[in-house]
Amino acid sequence: MEAGKPIEDIRREWGRRLLILAHHYQRPSVVAHADAIGDSLELARLAAREKEAERIVFCGVHFMAETAEMLTAEDQTVYMPDVRAGCPMADMATEEQVRVAWSALCEQGGDWLPVVYVNSSAAIKAFCGEAGGSACTSSNAAKVFEWVFGQGKRVFFLPDEHLGVNTAADLGIPDGAVAVYDPEPGGTRPGRAALRAARVVVWKGYCHVHTSFGIDQIRAVRERLPEAKIIVHPEVPREAARAADAHGSTAQIVRYVKDAPRGSTIVIGTELHFVSRLADEHAGRVAVRALAQSVCGNMARTTEQNLLALLQSWPDENIVRVREQTARPARACLERMLELG
Ligand code: 13P
Ligand code: SF4
Repeated sequence: MEAGKPIEDIRREWGRRLLILAHHYQRPSVVAHADAIGDSLELARLAAREKEAERIVFCGVHFMAETAEMLTAEDQTVYMPDVRAGCPMADMATEEQVRVAWSALCEQGGDWLPVVYVNSSAAIKAFCGEAGGSACTSSNAAKVFEWVFGQGKRVFFLPDEHLGVNTAADLGIPDGAVAVYDPEPGGTRPGRAALRAARVVVWKGYCHVHTSFGIDQIRAVRERLPEAKIIVHPEVPREAARAADAHGSTAQIVRYVKDAPRGSTIVIGTELHFVSRLADEHAGRVAVRALAQSVCGNMARTTEQNLLALLQSWPDENIVRVREQTARPARACLERMLELG
């Protein structure tokens, strides 16, 4: 069934009482119906600011909708077209594992602060809020790290090893001052000496969509298209981020392509639906290519069809809820992030 027209009819009928938010990785057919498209930070800001909409439909993955739910007012309801759209990286840090790691760090000294990537569960954000830390996204991680260092403290970053390592490197922190904590049973943990030397400890989590980008693909592009500029998302491993011309969040990648001179070629290392949409939007002005074909299957769970099904019947099981007991401390770490920029 053709879903585009009925979705638009429902949007018109609801007017400003309905707000559809879409992350940049969403399919073009979903993005076409969004009131706003953005990266994780922009969408969190919008959710916190928007007070008019009664219903917010979040087209993205679960941690993003959960974040929106915690930042919106009590009389606003957040829905997802497919609530099974999760983020495997966000599931790589359980509350129990994180509390064990935190105790081990604090035993070595009390000068740590947690920084949690928004790609994490509400329970992890609640832990972070209770411990006085802040959330961050890939577009403001450096600012949040600086906020920690500015207090003479050290960063415990989770759950993405690569964003943590790339951010530390951007701030000029030497490799020897960055330690990796593997939460898995039998996983390697930093010993006393490594912890003493560390300014940043990063959790050993990763995004499979972004660890598929590597230095070999970058070398191949440099050979094939020597004039091309390469930009990658900071969830890629360090060697790939170092070899690229730039790295940035999805919104920063959008700006990089917009600012590129006419006739240039930009090769992008991030999710394929997003890269393909940028290629279409800039066709004839800038040649946009994918560094490799890597799809986020969870982002792709949202379709025009399940968006329409949601708008037609508003099932309760599509509502995203966070218990207030968890939301209260989690909100503290999200609000700190929004204050920091
Ligand atoms: P952005 O914060 O850049 O939108 O990225 C979110 C994400 O999940 C990347 O994989
Ligand atoms: Fe999670 Fe990776 Fe998908 Fe982003 S691209 S939502 S980090 S699985």
